[in-house]
Amino acid sequence: MKCLWLALGLMWFIPVVALGDEITFNKHIAPIVWKNCAGCHRPGEVAPFSLLSYRDVSKRAEQIQDVTARHVMPPWKPQAGHGEFSNGRRLTADEIALLKQWVTAGAVEGNPADLPPAPTFANGWQMGTPDLIVTLPEAVQVPSDGRDWYLNVVVPLEIPEGKYLKAAEFRPSNRRVVHHAVLFCDTTGKSRERDEASAGLGFTAITPPGNMLPGTMAVWVPGRFPLPLPEGLSMPWPKKADLVLNLHLHPSGKPEVEQSSVGFYFTDQPPRRSMLDVSLIDMKIDIPAGEKAFRTQASCVLPIDMDALSVFPHMHLIGKEIKVTATLPDGTARPLLWINDWDFNWQDFYQYATPVRLPQGTKVTLDCVHDNSADNPANPRQPPTRVRWGEQSFDEMSIAFLNLVPVRESDLSQLKSIPNQPIKLVIQSESSKSAPPADVAQRAAEALRKADKNGDGKLSLDEIIAATGNRESAADLEKKVAQFDRDGDKQLNLPEVTEALKSLGK
Ligand code: HEC
Repeated sequence: MKCLWLALGLMWFIPVVALGDEITFNKHIAPIVWKNCAGCHRPGEVAPFSLLSYRDVSKRAEQIQDVTARHVMPPWKPQAGHGEFSNGRRLTADEIALLKQWVTAGAVEGNPADLPPAPTFANGWQMGTPDLIVTLPEAVQVPSDGRDWYLNVVVPLEIPEGKYLKAAEFRPSNRRVVHHAVLFCDTTGKSRERDEASAGLGFTAITPPGNMLPGTMAVWVPGRFPLPLPEGLSMPWPKKADLVLNLHLHPSGKPEVEQSSVGFYFTDQPPRRSMLDVSLIDMKIDIPAGEKAFRTQASCVLPIDMDALSVFPHMHLIGKEIKVTATLPDGTARPLLWINDWDFNWQDFYQYATPVRLPQGTKVTLDCVHDNSADNPANPRQPPTRVRWGEQSFDEMSIAFLNLVPVRESDLSQLKSIPNQPIKLVIQSESSKSAPPADVAQRAAEALRKADKNGDGKLSLDEIIAATGNRESAADLEKKVAQFDRDGDKQLNLPEVTEALKSLGK
């Protein structure tokens, strides 16, 4: 009986409390903003103003309601339901509704006693003291204005015997000017040559020679936390390889200096698993001026069971939409990523919260849309002009790099190549060292390096004749080259050489 009364009493009581519970900054809003916004919106961070105190937040209440309702803030591009990512930043529907309710009811501060303890932020290295810190040899002088600048600084790196890279944390010294950074490992010496040939610190190029560090170690964007390589994976650092810091610098309106550092974290564990980069690439990009929805597509079928660990989508300025979908052998579609408002300025490497199992026979497809119309505010050409595939940010690209790990290491030997798309072994487990010869992409890179006498990264007709001792007439050879010369510059670059080797069955 007593229980019944108690239960009835509670039923009555709860709704009253809920209705009477006014939404206040101190009780409801501060925890949301501190957790989801203050990482970037605090002094010294990337966002242009702080969101820490009631004053900071109430001053912009309406704008905050607007940008959260439209999912503009926190910046997080992947659409919900298309991949679950461990580095995700997304407000829940409840949080968005609460913000709205708070603003509509007049953005009340509330009882000071309700305010939780203020958050503390790790201002130093997010993952603790690194095992090795590499700092730019000198500060970069960033001019007050002008175009964005892609600067590559080469730093020789030696890792002690028996140590393997597990994580890398990039730290800019001046967040106002570092837009994002990509870390490369160059074993060819080419980056060093270009650095030496160019005056001052580093050299300018959107992408330097070399390979990106594996997985999410490769990329830093503001507001992102470093993630160690998943279980069983670590990176042996090649002998005599250079670390290349590829910095996207963005003038701030006044002269600035920047001297970034990278902290490396080691493990004693050599890789027990192998990781491959599968690149889904469509180079058939030739977009007429004014075209609103130019579509590109690429796909491949996985010859063995694999786990997808992460995905790095890449387009340039007029990319609009990018989608990666896995179709399992039983026909089930499994969405891997969908960004429907691509922004060149908010690129990221997305790591799945749990690896996505892709059984043998799964077809992975990339679909992109590019908008070359005058209505596209991100279109740098006004009026629009024809756009083709290329390396410069004014050219376009359609790529998704997938990091895949074979479910069974022993299957790796069956994986010499994947039909249609280049693959690259980025981490090789100790156990598979005796396994397969380099895949097509690696052989293409080698062939290119050997034959490329003038070192411009492309093979001219003369270089091909010199390398192959070809006795065909120059006109015949020219025709053959034209078959693979997608960008029409009468030379073959790496993806074109790869295509050529593949189709010639070499
Ligand atoms: C990853 C970093 C990051 C996080 C997290 C973040 N912001 Fe921002 N925010 C920015 C940057 C950078 C800008 C400046 C504009 C830009 O570059 O998009 C900005 C701009 C804004 C603006 C101004 C928008 C405009 O149109 O000028 C508002 C309002 C805002 N943020 C609110 C929030 C709120 C609320 C949250 C949390 C729910 C949040 N932000 C989380 C980085 C961040």
